[in-house]
Amino acid sequence: MEYYVRTELLGKAFPSEKKGGDDYVVFEDLNVGIRKGEFVTCIGHSGCGKSTVLNVFAGLEKATAGASFLGNRVIESPGLDRAVVFQNHSLLPWRSALKNVEFAVKARWPQWSAAEVETHSRKFLSLVGLDKSVDRKPYQLSGGMRQRVGIARAFAIKSELLLMDEPFGALDALTRGVIQDELVRIWSHTDQTVFMITHDVDEAILLSDRILLMTNGPRARVAEAVVVDLPRPRNRATIIHEPKYYATRNHLVDFLVRRSQELSDDQAGSDARTVPTSVDGELVYPPEIIPGESESANLTAAMAAQC
Ligand SMILES: Nc1ncnc2c1ncn2[C@@H]1O[C@H](COP(=O)(O)OP(=O)(O)O)[C@@H](O)[C@H]1O
Ligand SMILES: [Mg+2]
Repeated sequence: MEYYVRTELLGKAFPSEKKGGDDYVVFEDLNVGIRKGEFVTCIGHSGCGKSTVLNVFAGLEKATAGASFLGNRVIESPGLDRAVVFQNHSLLPWRSALKNVEFAVKARWPQWSAAEVETHSRKFLSLVGLDKSVDRKPYQLSGGMRQRVGIARAFAIKSELLLMDEPFGALDALTRGVIQDELVRIWSHTDQTVFMITHDVDEAILLSDRILLMTNGPRARVAEAVVVDLPRPRNRATIIHEPKYYATRNHLVDFLVRRSQELSDDQAGSDARTVPTSVDGELVYPPEIIPGESESANLTAAMAAQC
């Protein structure tokens, strides 16, 4: 199986704050594979290590065990082949919205004229609804607007891999819907690969080809990669009428409210560390499952508790 982004027994531990204390192992033995052009999201409880995984892919954080690869290169540092949208925007505070986007566009296409850079940057700010605010500095923009500048900047450089860490959390529902649609439009017209963290199960179902489910930390792992077997193009208003929609949704909610913790407890209680390699040394990736109808039973209460 050819994966474009993949990890091999990836692990990350932070040293203890106490002298002589045990390291805090965020995740270990993580084997994740993302195919070229795939849209993969990752769901898991706060603190399980999602942002850390994304930062390793971005080349911003070093793993403490194993390795991660982009194509056949080991990921060691950031590069223009990857664009990142952070959970909290990361704009240059002394530059306007337009200049923030132009800065990235210039780095990506150094041969472009100033006019080309500006036209291209304005186009992407306009896509996220900021045409009238391009000259404002970050402190003159609301949190949601700043986040949209970060999204415009990431979309504008048309990177091969788009990494997004809960990018739409700060946006109102209407704006979120518009930008989700724009993201899908951009993604479906290119061979861009997307890895996105979200806490919103509906967003994950609407956007993803597969959803990685991470157990609670410490020693978090990817328990499953759920295939979203719903036809594209998807429409937020009609997707709920797809026969498989609620089975998939219930499966995700059940994971979040119950199984993510149970699986962590099971792991903590077992002596043997399960290293997911098969006899011939091939990596075994998490099973890909399509939730069946039966799993949708008895979960209404759990969903109500969660949502
Ligand atoms: N620089 C750091 N030093 C120590 N612990 C950290 C550091 N960064 C993250 N952590 C810890 O690693 C765990 C995973 O963090 P994170 O990847 O941000 O989780 P998530 O994105 O899933 O909420 C958390 O318990 C967090 O406290
Ligand atoms: Mg996070």
